[in-house]
Amino acid sequence: MTAARINPSILSADFVNLQAELAAIASADLVHVDVMDNHFVPNLTMGPPIVERIQAVSPVPLDMHLMISDADRWAPGYAELGAYSVTFHAEATEDPVKLARRIREIGARAGIALKPGTDPEPYLELLPEFDQVLVMTVEPGFGGQKFMHDMMPKLRRFADAKAASGLDVWLQVDGGITVDTIAIAAEAGADTFVAGSAVYGGVPEDRIADLRRAVANHSH
Ligand code: DX5
Ligand code: ZN
Repeated sequence: MTAARINPSILSADFVNLQAELAAIASADLVHVDVMDNHFVPNLTMGPPIVERIQAVSPVPLDMHLMISDADRWAPGYAELGAYSVTFHAEATEDPVKLARRIREIGARAGIALKPGTDPEPYLELLPEFDQVLVMTVEPGFGGQKFMHDMMPKLRRFADAKAASGLDVWLQVDGGITVDTIAIAAEAGADTFVAGSAVYGGVPEDRIADLRRAVANHSH
């Protein structure tokens, strides 16, 4: 297995001390930035001006998770800001392939996210169009929710499609990832792990190391 990527979500960080909260996760692979619009999800976080500042001060590259309606209109702007990865929701785009191509053309990695109720079937054959697939393991909108074990079959379907394709598409999970659940998600095929409350609920550097240890102990 390739080394697991740990992407702390700053949704659980202190928003008025973001620069320090970002500095505290320098040992992470990427920083997961949750954009919410109070429309696609019932919560509101930030938009391009704040993301631009995060991009300027973050010690690690940005993994954008856009929980916003009309992704076709807004997602390319985050790639233009210099985000390393831009993930939009399958449920929020008219044309996922066209949008992913646009994001890649700008120079970012393109990701597609699926809410728990979304059928993976139409997306399995589209893997060549994406650099990352995000299988949500909670209903998007809030940190600190319980990991949905029943998403593992969906994750396995993407893992099987990935193996069959031979592509190096990252399989990401987001929601309820802890030292207890991370190995379960890894076992089902995830290689990229978002953790908000599990990281910022303690000393971030220690929590990141704990998650790395918990996932390393698991082997395929
Ligand atoms: C939820 C967000 C997550 C959130 C995860 O909609 O997409 O990234 O921060 O938080 P935890 O790790 O606490 O479940
Ligand atoms: Zn997220």
